[in-house]
Amino acid sequence: MPPPRDSSELMKFASSRLGKTVFDLEDVTVQAGPKVLLKHVTWQLGPGDRIGLVGVNGAGKTSLLRAMAEAARSEGEQQPAGGQVRVGRTVKLAYLSQEVAELDPDWRVLEAVQRVRERVDLGKGREMTAGQLCETFGFGKEKQWTPVGDLSGGERRRLQLLRLLMDEPNVLFLDEPTNDLDIETLTQLEDVLDGWPGSMIVISHDRFFVERTTDRVFALLGDGALRMLPRGIDEYLERRQRMEEAAAANSPAPAARTAAETPEKSAADVRAAKKELQKIERQLDKVSEKETKLHAQIADNATDFAKVAELDAELRALAGQRDELELRWLELAEDA
Ligand SMILES: Nc1ncnc2c1ncn2[C@@H]1O[C@H](COP(=O)(O)OP(=O)(O)OP(=O)(O)O)[C@@H](O)[C@H]1O
Ligand SMILES: [Mg+2]
Repeated sequence: MPPPRDSSELMKFASSRLGKTVFDLEDVTVQAGPKVLLKHVTWQLGPGDRIGLVGVNGAGKTSLLRAMAEAARSEGEQQPAGGQVRVGRTVKLAYLSQEVAELDPDWRVLEAVQRVRERVDLGKGREMTAGQLCETFGFGKEKQWTPVGDLSGGERRRLQLLRLLMDEPNVLFLDEPTNDLDIETLTQLEDVLDGWPGSMIVISHDRFFVERTTDRVFALLGDGALRMLPRGIDEYLERRQRMEEAAAANSPAPAARTAAETPEKSAADVRAAKKELQKIERQLDKVSEKETKLHAQIADNATDFAKVAELDAELRALAGQRDELELRWLELAEDA
């Protein structure tokens, strides 16, 4: 167990100020090879915007973030297949990609952190050394000497996040940040993001993570549009179901609008509804916790096929439970 961490410390990572323009997409087309994933996307990410981005596997979520990140990295030189991505001059982007980024496996944890910075500014004249920061992120003295190559998937993800945040970005792109994270790190990441003053886009299949960390949900529904969903993930699930039904009847969904629309429900309504749903959410958390544990056990027993099969069966049973809970959650959400 990592030592208890003071999340309030973490919230004070410095981040330079953002101007009015952050990302400005105009009539953008995104392709992967010859495949057109998005077209005619006109959209703005403003300062302080917190966006959840959802869509099925292969919808183009990663490709969109990548196109935006490339424009930022190249200072506008590199543009998508069509249209224009304008990047604000004040933007300092940190991008946690879906693939676990390569770190030299021989580096020690502490060294990997020190290579970003020896110390970070926490504001009000307070500083933290790389070592202290490691501790805060659950890498105790001993762990700090572990070669990066020996870290677990979750630990490596945690290290990457730490490295990203200490570089004082003001825009965060997180592509599936919760993969491999244990519950505690997940909670802690949510705390860090709660106090995050910059703009962010989070891609995640973890609906609760998206709901906790972002304010608005946009979806790629496979029709080339980027669409704002005023009712968030619920609406996404409903739409997907409708699309599946429509696909069965072979009638295409109506054309997309990318402009932001005002939410139909007040924030208070949503909060009230969520309260009633908390019980189910807690149950779902427990399921996630068990799943994380099982994933770890599977990793630990990777060479024992019988054991892996057994654990895998347990995982599938849990997935069934999760589906049921999510369904109940949806029904309740409609009543609420
Ligand atoms: N270089 C490439 N050439 C051809 N096709 C590609 C290339 N890169 C990605 N694709 C395809 O483009 C589609 C979109 O990929 P992308 O990674 O953006 O999806 P995603 O929404 O992030 O999916 P996931 O949820 O699985 O991460 C996929 O069908 C993928 O196979
Ligand atoms: Mg992806």
